[in-house]
Amino acid sequence: MRSIDFVVARNDLQHCKTVETTLPGADALPAETLLIKVDRFAFTANNITYALLGDQLKYWQLFPAPAGFGIIPVWGFGEVIASKHPLVGEGERLFGTFPMATHLVIEASDVSQRGLRDAAPHRQGVAAVYNAYARVGSDDAFAGHRGDQQALLRPLFMLSFLVDDYLAENDVFGAAAIILSSASSKTAFGLAHLLHAQRDGVRVIGLTSPANAAFVRALGCYDEVVSYDGIELLDTASPSVFVDMAGNAELRARLHRHLGDHLKQSIRVGMTHQDSESDPASLPGAKPVWFFAPDQIRKRAKEWGPGGIESRLGAAWQGFAPMLERSLTIVEGRGPDVVQRVYLDTLSGRIPPEQGHMLSMTD
Ligand SMILES: NC(=O)c1ccc[n+]([C@@H]2O[C@H](COP(=O)([O-])OP(=O)(O)OC[C@H]3O[C@@H](n4cnc5c(N)ncnc54)[C@H](OP(=O)(O)O)[C@@H]3O)[C@@H](O)[C@H]2O)c1
Repeated sequence: MRSIDFVVARNDLQHCKTVETTLPGADALPAETLLIKVDRFAFTANNITYALLGDQLKYWQLFPAPAGFGIIPVWGFGEVIASKHPLVGEGERLFGTFPMATHLVIEASDVSQRGLRDAAPHRQGVAAVYNAYARVGSDDAFAGHRGDQQALLRPLFMLSFLVDDYLAENDVFGAAAIILSSASSKTAFGLAHLLHAQRDGVRVIGLTSPANAAFVRALGCYDEVVSYDGIELLDTASPSVFVDMAGNAELRARLHRHLGDHLKQSIRVGMTHQDSESDPASLPGAKPVWFFAPDQIRKRAKEWGPGGIESRLGAAWQGFAPMLERSLTIVEGRGPDVVQRVYLDTLSGRIPPEQGHMLSMTD
């Protein structure tokens, strides 16, 4: 059985290629393993961040690749085409983290009605969420167009939801304004939607590049949209919080210097601008700190009990879905050449923000 894998050079993400690997066929599958056909997966700047942090957060360990190369993890759907697990049948549809590849072998464990886990030893160094698969065959919310929206947005919206919850829990640190960078990113506009809908009296301000400003304004969830060259025009009188999706050290320093002590909290979430510069030692305002989603999940899981996060996230998603219908165009692409083009365009920031790409390595 051959899989076609899309691999990138770990130390030079512009360098990418397709390789063939050999997997055991249906007859040779070891006990309790599943052979999966990777059906379709979402690709956004978040996946580029996985690659940038591949060593640090061990994402490269998820799916082994030739020396010096890595397979970027993606969120999407797979179909079981052969099974040696008694509780999982052929044709079963799974949602979770897959390689950019045509096929994957999973060592199924903890199989329940709702899902299963890949127990392959090389996958155990990463957060549990990256090894969990939901059995979504009979769930309409994961079918067709709505399924594509889930693959594109759900992992990102989880973060939007958690940051909103963290801010609310802390009375938004007394801020009158919350400023989001890379305001056009899906993670940012998910958060802006939640803040706009729920945090009365707080202005939601989006920072974005000039080319994406019209899109961000049209979303309707930002009270004000400012392009990066206009940071120094922001109101300095109001206490503010910064949520940084761009991760651009120069922008961050400009904002901190402009707002000074009025910047009450500075939360790092993303790195769409692919900048690994660190902050100068003496930055005015609150010290930038990384938001660590698993901490907030652990805390709320304890406080809200079983299913508490899922039910609240589900309700928040219901409110977000109409905005997605209006603002996101799903673009489907198939085959290694298309995957390579979308990968390189995403790496270079050439994907228009209204597009959400669903890809498949199979032609
Ligand atoms: N910490 C966490 O647990 C967590 C969870 C989810 C997401 N995130 C992070 O949030 C960020 C957003 O991810 P996403 O998937 O939502 O992004 P996305 O929707 O694909 O965002 C695209 C936007 O990012 C900016 N951008 C992308 N590539 C760029 C480039 N090469 N140069 C300059 N700007 C570029 C542009 O926005 P502007 O023009 O508006 O800057 C672009 O419109 C990622 O860094 C992701 O890893 C973190």
